[in-house]
Amino acid sequence: MDWRSYKPLILPNIPNLHEISVYESQGGYEAFRKVLQEKSPAAVIEEVKAANIRGRGGAGFNAGLKWSFMPPKKEGVPRYLAANGDESEPGTFKDRRILEFNPHLFIEGALIAAYAMQVDAVYVYVRGEYADWIDRLQKALDQAYARGYVGRNILGTHFSTEIYVHRGAGAYICGEETGLMESLEGKRAYPRYKPPFPAQKGLWGCPTTINNVETLAHVPIVMRLGAAAYTQIGAPEHPGPLLYGISGHVNRPGLYEYPSGMLITDLIYEVAGGVRQGRKLKGVVPGGSSTPILLPEEVEGTRMTMESLRKVGSMLGTAGMLVLDETTDMVRFAYRIAAFYKHESCGQCTPCREGTGWLKQILRRFLDGSATYADIDRLLSVANQMEGRTICALADAAVWPIRAIVQKYRKEFEAAARPTLVPV
Ligand SMILES: Cc1cc2nc3c(=O)[nH]c(=O)nc-3n(C[C@H](O)[C@H](O)[C@H](O)COP(=O)(O)O)c2cc1C
Ligand code: SF4
Repeated sequence: MDWRSYKPLILPNIPNLHEISVYESQGGYEAFRKVLQEKSPAAVIEEVKAANIRGRGGAGFNAGLKWSFMPPKKEGVPRYLAANGDESEPGTFKDRRILEFNPHLFIEGALIAAYAMQVDAVYVYVRGEYADWIDRLQKALDQAYARGYVGRNILGTHFSTEIYVHRGAGAYICGEETGLMESLEGKRAYPRYKPPFPAQKGLWGCPTTINNVETLAHVPIVMRLGAAAYTQIGAPEHPGPLLYGISGHVNRPGLYEYPSGMLITDLIYEVAGGVRQGRKLKGVVPGGSSTPILLPEEVEGTRMTMESLRKVGSMLGTAGMLVLDETTDMVRFAYRIAAFYKHESCGQCTPCREGTGWLKQILRRFLDGSATYADIDRLLSVANQMEGRTICALADAAVWPIRAIVQKYRKEFEAAARPTLVPV
């Protein structure tokens, strides 16, 4: 399908779609009703698995496969679904649009997931700064309760589940799935060691699945179209619609829904109106601040799928793309990213706590003129000692962008440094 003729499925342009009557008039909640009446939980999981909805929170894991990791239901042991709407990765602003414009699609998806995994309660963890969208979600949820879609004996069946909206307190680490669970339990969001994985021991020690808000919003679409039709949308290896957040130095920044697997060049030059003021492209961070930057020559021919981006050493992440033009000071850009990860490190692991601090400090030297050439390799050495040595992936998320910027724009770091003094 040509992306130009694509009609949005997650964020269609329908006025007042956040109102339940409008959502229902478009066939909303029919998929959930049908699932309750006609499908077993196992059949739903199989359908979602076959659709290969790749998790939209960053890692791209098959949602149905993840659901299948939940152990068999045991009498007296509650089970949970946590919907991750913490959305704190710089460059990412998609979940909030779903909560704003189509909250019932997300609620319906969460309900189908809850039925498939037979969970007792769904906790929706939303970034605290999203105050307006939290209100909108709560209103939509109240409407869904009033219609009998949520609560006890839903639509006259034996299935019951509750949905609670939880407001986050404003830290990036609350979006890491085990940190999120700690935070929901009322503690500091210190990520937990894995294993045990959340499906075995999650919220309050009970089986739990964590899915991104957008991932869940894809579920009713799969149920309406069928897995086979869903997999025909976009790139076969990463199918379905994708919400592309495009920010930075483009003429029309914004959130755009198109099939997965778009060419980055089409997104920049056609969808987002090109680089501002006709300037030259300097680099593209494809999927949120933690994904390695691409040079203009690496952008050519590269598609927004995990597989295509892996070939050029980067990742799809959240598909929140940062576009940088030729005026960008890459040393300052690297410093800004390092400062973010230093601020957001929870401090549990030494390589992350100290490493993010050192990355920031060393980069600062390039800005205030006290760096030497040796500091360039020192940055890379610190990065190498952080990666893969920590409880959660925040340290890796700090390393990947800095390493790529230093390696690909090394000349700018050399220009900002003094030659290393060799003792005589
Ligand atoms: C530091 C850190 C922050 C994260 N923040 C988010 C977030 O804000 N939202 C999100 O959905 N996933 C976030 N993730 C990924 C989650 O841990 C988890 O993989 C995801 O919610 C799973 O959902 P999915 O399988 O539907 O993608 C983060 C991961 C890390 C390491
Ligand atoms: S890697 Fe960083 S953020 Fe993650 S647990 Fe360790 S110290 Fe905390």
